[in-house]
Amino acid sequence: MSFELPHNSSLTKPGFIYGVATAAFQIEGANTADGRCESIWDRFCATPGKVLNGDDGSIACDHYHRLEQDLDLIQSLGVDAYRFSVAWPRIEPAPDQWNEAGFEFYERLIDGLITRGIKPYLTLYHWDLPQYLEDKGGWINRETAYRFVRYAEKITERFGNKVVSYCTFNEPLCTAFVGYRWGIHAPGYADHKLGYQAAHHVLLAHGLALPYMRKNAPEAEHGIVLNFTPAYPYQDTAADIEAVEYSDDADGFWFLHPLMTAEYPARVVQQDAVFMPVILPGDLEIIARPIDFLGINYYSRKVVKANAQGLPEQVHNEHPKTDIGWEIYPDGLTHLTQKMTRRYARLPPLLITENGAADNTEPENGEINDTMRVHYYRQHLLAVHNAVESGVDIRGYFAWSLMDNFEWAYGYSMRFGIVHVDYQSQQRTLKKSGQSWQHFLRQRIAK
Ligand code: NOJ
Repeated sequence: MSFELPHNSSLTKPGFIYGVATAAFQIEGANTADGRCESIWDRFCATPGKVLNGDDGSIACDHYHRLEQDLDLIQSLGVDAYRFSVAWPRIEPAPDQWNEAGFEFYERLIDGLITRGIKPYLTLYHWDLPQYLEDKGGWINRETAYRFVRYAEKITERFGNKVVSYCTFNEPLCTAFVGYRWGIHAPGYADHKLGYQAAHHVLLAHGLALPYMRKNAPEAEHGIVLNFTPAYPYQDTAADIEAVEYSDDADGFWFLHPLMTAEYPARVVQQDAVFMPVILPGDLEIIARPIDFLGINYYSRKVVKANAQGLPEQVHNEHPKTDIGWEIYPDGLTHLTQKMTRRYARLPPLLITENGAADNTEPENGEINDTMRVHYYRQHLLAVHNAVESGVDIRGYFAWSLMDNFEWAYGYSMRFGIVHVDYQSQQRTLKKSGQSWQHFLRQRIAK
């Protein structure tokens, strides 16, 4: 079983990058090894009731101790690239203390990829803030943005052009809104004003870091990864259509719009005026510094209708969902990337940095027949193809995820991997979806 794309699709041409993605806290484990300090996610996991079943990241996929084996696994898939993140707590375990053992781990990872002919795509921040920074206010404190700049500088100084692509932040929406506004992720605050302030500081940190990153790695690409759950109208009424626009502007476009235009989306600024962050003169121009690529993480859409105030209210439907309850809606990826392309003349080339499905199919006689995931990938690759055909500039696609891992507030209950992980034995087994990827990628090279 493989993925099918129309003959001559640009998605099968050399140059279109395929990869698999992971993040440090979700796979590494070894959270006290070699000088690593506590992160906000270690603290959050240790707080009763925050993570399902009390799961934590102390072992995860034990990737830290199984690096070579996992690199071979990645290579066996036939991917062009591997997207991973660096754990800031390994690199700077105390303020201004730079931990050589931390750098060495990622050096082995990067060199191991290069030796195997795989391009390293590095994310600087995938949610694991050092706890000592949270103790001083975390992303609510403007100072954290300056701390991030120092960290970004050190990483790019060390790895330079060896890394093909640097991403400052993965999904600022989750860091700021899920973590500080809705309280579902670490550090667990539920306060609108804090959420908007954290969002502003994360974007500021991104813009502030860019010139240093460019200086240290002039040949690499530098960008950011945003997540989107585009809205669709419940009914074709003017009110529902306006609710859709509001929903999009309050979601991923809250972050994309300032990056592209140096302004926050007006309708949300107006509606949420009392929660707006402190913005210093010049901040928005820093945020809107040019980027080389925009990473898009897409999983699902939402359907909304206007409530009595004209604001979006989510409406649930009976359409097919993945095991985490997210509607399978491939066209959303096509429409979303088309909308961005229409809206922003300055939009850089796009990369689909994450796409995938929670499919918890268990092994049966040593095989994992995750057919829902196979269909999901097939449909979404076609959606990317359709977007490219219509003129959207998409340069690559990364499957989330290489292997089953720690799914944040859901702990280990949700499996996103194309490789199954037995958390008792740490055995990795290629799922049907992993075999489909392997087949698709090999066939593409053979062409
Ligand atoms: C978004 C995040 O970047 C990743 O960490 C997470 O596991 C997946 N999406 C699935 O929820």
